[in-house]
Amino acid sequence: MTTIPLPQHDRDAESVAGHWLLARVGKKVLRPGGRELSEWLVSATSVAGRRVVEFAPGLGLTATLLLDSGPASYTGVDSDPEAVEVTRDAIGGRGDLVVATAQETGLETGAADIVVGEAMLTMQGDAAKQQIVAEAGRVLEPGGHYLVHELCLVPDDLDDEIKTSIRKDLARSIRVNARPLTVAEWTRLFDGAGFEVERTELRPMALLQPRRMLEDEGLVGMARIVRNLIRDADARRRVLAMRKTFTTHDRHMSAVGFVLRKR
Ligand SMILES: C[S@@+](CC[C@H](N)C(=O)[O-])C[C@H]1O[C@@H](n2cnc3c(N)ncnc32)[C@H](O)[C@@H]1O
Repeated sequence: MTTIPLPQHDRDAESVAGHWLLARVGKKVLRPGGRELSEWLVSATSVAGRRVVEFAPGLGLTATLLLDSGPASYTGVDSDPEAVEVTRDAIGGRGDLVVATAQETGLETGAADIVVGEAMLTMQGDAAKQQIVAEAGRVLEPGGHYLVHELCLVPDDLDDEIKTSIRKDLARSIRVNARPLTVAEWTRLFDGAGFEVERTELRPMALLQPRRMLEDEGLVGMARIVRNLIRDADARRRVLAMRKTFTTHDRHMSAVGFVLRKR
């Protein structure tokens, strides 16, 4: 089997973005609410016979869930050509893949009944978040669903100083400018782009907690990750720093799933 290089494979463990570092040590599930919240999202609407577009499929895990549900079509859009190759390998020719930004997909207006995006909006600045949500609205037919899985801050009236310190700590440990919003802020963003929130689901942000990792990666996957971390001191240091950020801010961070309907 040909091994496809992971994105940022040429960067050292110190500078690579946190999600690609986790992928490098063998982690397959890179979204805050784990496999469980992705399954909840995919089962929240009927995928069978619908045209599905996924923003940022990454390693192709949700792409596989979606394709197994019998959509009329599947198109994945990721800005990273290497991520697209990883997804292509994961879905084995069952859908279309495009290298483009989710801000400007190049897809036709009304080309989708369902748009899915996980763990990709949080890492954008305010303007890009708005552009991506607007693009989801453009690509969807009226009445279509936008399924979102992201990180959020709790509670809605969280002190601004705490928000800033969480964002700084995330940026420092993940090496990505992560800007999670509160549920109220996410809702305002979606509402402003013409989406009605049908359902909101909060799940613990437990990306690097042993129990969630076991659920997400299985015993063999977990053993592979632990073995890789024992062998690679730089990667281990980074992963422990990320874990420390997540546990430090545990009370104020959560995974969130939104089922949105285009008005
Ligand atoms: C944390 S990974 C999440 C991947 C996948 N959705 C998952 O949950 O496992 C972030 C992904 O978003 C992609 N990405 C980041 N910004 C993007 C953008 N503006 N447009 C399209 N893809 C983007 C990255 O290339 C990467 O594949």
